[in-house]
Amino acid sequence: MLIDTFGRTIEYLRLSVTDRCDLRCVYCLPKDHKEFQEPDHWLTFDEIQRLIRLFSELGVSKIRITGGEPLVRRNLSQLIQQLSQLPKLQDLSLSTNALQLEKHAQALYQSGVSRLNISLDSLNPQRFKQITNGPLAQVLAGIMAAKQAGFSPIKINMVLMKGVNEDEVEAMVNFCIEHGFTLRFIETMPMGSTGQQAMQQYINLDTIRQQLEQRFNLIPTTMLGNGPARYLQVAHTKINIGFITPISQHFCETCNRVRLSVDGVLYLCLGQEHSLDLRLLLRQGLSDQELSQAILTAIADKPERHEFHEKPEQTIRFMSKTGG
Ligand code: GTP
Ligand code: 5AD
Ligand code: SF4
Repeated sequence: MLIDTFGRTIEYLRLSVTDRCDLRCVYCLPKDHKEFQEPDHWLTFDEIQRLIRLFSELGVSKIRITGGEPLVRRNLSQLIQQLSQLPKLQDLSLSTNALQLEKHAQALYQSGVSRLNISLDSLNPQRFKQITNGPLAQVLAGIMAAKQAGFSPIKINMVLMKGVNEDEVEAMVNFCIEHGFTLRFIETMPMGSTGQQAMQQYINLDTIRQQLEQRFNLIPTTMLGNGPARYLQVAHTKINIGFITPISQHFCETCNRVRLSVDGVLYLCLGQEHSLDLRLLLRQGLSDQELSQAILTAIADKPERHEFHEKPEQTIRFMSKTGG
């Protein structure tokens, strides 16, 4: 088992399969961003398979595939098929912006992904374009294709921003009730220059919860998932609303996860730079046992918590590098 110095068991790995993205969300990537990883730095599918096997032998049983946008990595379904054969894996999920989901939903479902989380910050096409630089209709088509393919649950992620999309909270709840989706609100995080700038629009989700409590009868609940969301169920429906509150109420004491970037760097915390370059070690020809030992040593270096609140200027890397 992977247990860090604060007694937390690490059983969840977020695997970024690319740092590229086909959208440019204002809080995530600058419009003119060009500093992407060189293809020869990308872990190959076989390298990923080997590392994930080692992690799973060490106790990681939950994998979420992230990006950038994971669907821009070619032949992703092939990697997923490879990973889903690992015997100790219990949960294989994916986070996407859904732009290319319409054409991939069925293959993803068949290859072994059981759960999808999808970003959707607005239901208004002009506003969606302003936030993401992309076409809403194509994203909605992707979401509906996922529903049709059989994914359950489908969780909608909405980053809330003051003066940008806060007036759509109720509309998004109703959209999710209509389609049977889970809705999660997310507080903006100061990752990279974009995230730091987005903090000007930061909304404490407590105010949103209070607003929703005026309108709906909400009951505390739990649901399938490995992340930090806290859930309320809308009474008389099966709809859950999740709150992800890294700033107003951080959840680091229950952290169960680490992140692996496309270039093979193991990041021990979203908001800190502590890391281990596993690509370097892999390509130096280390044995499985030596790699496992390096992972164990790195886990001991996992920081206690992020400092988004105290040091918002600290996290220089963009969210797209480690997929949130
Ligand atoms: P479930 O297994 O469905 O609970 O998935 P998840 O919530 O872990 O995954 P998702 O990719 O949908 O992440 C939702 C949001 O939670 C993203 O904005 C992430 O950045 C954020 N998040 C996930 N883990 C952490 C974390 O360790 N720290 C912080 N600050 N945010 C996190
Ligand atoms: N703050 C909060 N959430 C962010 N995401 C990307 N960048 C940020 C940020 N700066 C979210 C995306 C997606 C999830 C994986 O991470 O909207 O839902
Ligand atoms: Fe864990 Fe770091 Fe996330 Fe906090 S910010 S929950 S310590 S990964």
